Amino acid sequence: MSVELTTSSPGETEAVAARLAKGLLPGDVVTVSGELGAGKTTFVRGASRALGVADPVTSPTFTIGHRYRGDGVEVSHLDLYRFDGVSNAEWGDLEPYFGETIAFVEWPEAAGDALGAVRASVRLGHVDPSHRTIVIAADRALLATVSAGC
Ligand SMILES: Nc1ncnc2c1ncn2[C@@H]1O[C@H](COP(=O)(O)OP(=O)(O)OP(=O)(O)O)[C@@H](O)[C@H]1O
Ligand SMILES: [Mg+2]
Repeated sequence: MSVELTTSSPGETEAVAARLAKGLLPGDVVTVSGELGAGKTTFVRGASRALGVADPVTSPTFTIGHRYRGDGVEVSHLDLYRFDGVSNAEWGDLEPYFGETIAFVEWPEAAGDALGAVRASVRLGHVDPSHRTIVIAADRALLATVSAGC
C-alpha cells in the first residue's frame, strides 16, 4: 500500500516525516529515495526530531552515516550516494548502523537486497522550488499514522 502527499515547504516535509516516525519501532529500516535536492535529508531531519534527536541532522554525504541518540531509541542516518553496490567489506562498515536502531537510508538503490526487510519506502520528487511529492509505501497501520493529522 502507498500514499502520495504534496508538501509546500521543508517544514511540511518534516511534519510528514514526524508523523511516520511516530509509528516506527527499533529495528525498522526506512529507505528515502529521490533525485539530488529532493528533500531526503529534510525528511530524515523531521523524523529524527520526532524521535527525540537533539543534535543537528545533516547530510552524511561525505561519511557513510551518522548515529544519533533519540528519546529512548537510537537513530541511524545513512547515505549510500557514493556506493555502487555494497561489498561484504563495506557491509561490515554499515552493519553497526542497523540492529536495534531506527535506520533511515538515503540512496538505498546501491545496497540492493542487502538492506533486508524495509518497513517503509519513501520517495520524494520535485514539483517546483517549494513543492515536493512524497510517496510512502508501507503497511496499512503505518500509513494510517502518516495520514492522521493531515
Ligand atoms: N517542500 C519541500 N520539502 C523539502 N525540501 C524543500 C521543500 N521545498 C524546498 N525545499 C528545499 O530543498 C532542499 C532539499 O535539500 P535536502 O538536503 O533535504 O535534499 P536531499 O534530497 O537530501 O539532497 P541530496 O541528494 O544532496 O542528499 C532544501 O534546500 C530545502 O530547503
Ligand atoms: Mg541528502
